[in-house]
Amino acid sequence: MTPGPVELVHRLRAAGCVFAEEEAALLAEAADDAAHLDQLTARRLVGEPLEQVLGWVAFDGLRLRVRPGVFVPRQRTTFLVQVAADLAPQGAMVADVCCGIGAIAAALTARRADLDLYAADSDPVAVALARENLPDRVGTGCGDLLDALPARLQGRLGMVVANTPYVPSGQIAHLPVEARAHEPLPTLDGGADGLDVQRRLAQRAPRWLAPGGYVLTEIAATQRDAAVAAFTAAGFQATVRISEEWGSGVLVARVPLAGGA
Ligand SMILES: C[S@@+](CC[C@H](N)C(=O)[O-])C[C@H]1O[C@@H](n2cnc3c(N)ncnc32)[C@H](O)[C@@H]1O
Repeated sequence: MTPGPVELVHRLRAAGCVFAEEEAALLAEAADDAAHLDQLTARRLVGEPLEQVLGWVAFDGLRLRVRPGVFVPRQRTTFLVQVAADLAPQGAMVADVCCGIGAIAAALTARRADLDLYAADSDPVAVALARENLPDRVGTGCGDLLDALPARLQGRLGMVVANTPYVPSGQIAHLPVEARAHEPLPTLDGGADGLDVQRRLAQRAPRWLAPGGYVLTEIAATQRDAAVAAFTAAGFQATVRISEEWGSGVLVARVPLAGGA
């Protein structure tokens, strides 16, 4: 039988949903009818992320489409968007690699209309969603890191922004069931210390960047020294910004300006 509003809240709370009242209201709003509400509730009760059940995620003031089987953008990534919006040169070409559903590129498009944005990911399901979430003028591609971008962008990007997988392999088992069971492992697993994808990005990005261009990546505060070392070894000047407000860190790496300035 379809649960009433109070029973729905109780069931969600019993399943471990901290914001049971809010979730109950959102599920009720998303359901077409009582049978549909039953289906959505059943999915949520077994730990499917609320956003995958609803079909959307709120990110940086936008409502973006999400479906099962992709990474759900985290609110903490707003900090990466803020730093990118502050540092991107006027009119720059900017690539969001490891773009997932395109949350960072979508937010930058909304915040900085002057930027020429591209977005790419190795997962075709994620790229299809990014295509739905991004305006036509944002180019998208599917492939490994920067390889998915048009070759004509080599040496011309003002910024590469990337929320790569960065969870150390040994910590995957300790993630909440929402992530462990409902987001693909390649969206989370960053190798032994979490920085495998970032090290590859550090090696490959210089060929794509204009002089003085940036790479910005999200990191955990515990990864700051290793991330700075990885990008410094690849020829970047690297620093880290930590946000207490968002509970996240951003590595800011810059290739030297032409002439070494
Ligand atoms: C942590 S998720 C972040 C997604 C998105 N940037 C966001 O913040 O919502 C990491 C993304 O990187 C992608 N990915 C993993 N390895 C990749 C690679 N070698 N090249 C391109 N994308 C990759 C995954 O498919 C996943 O969408």
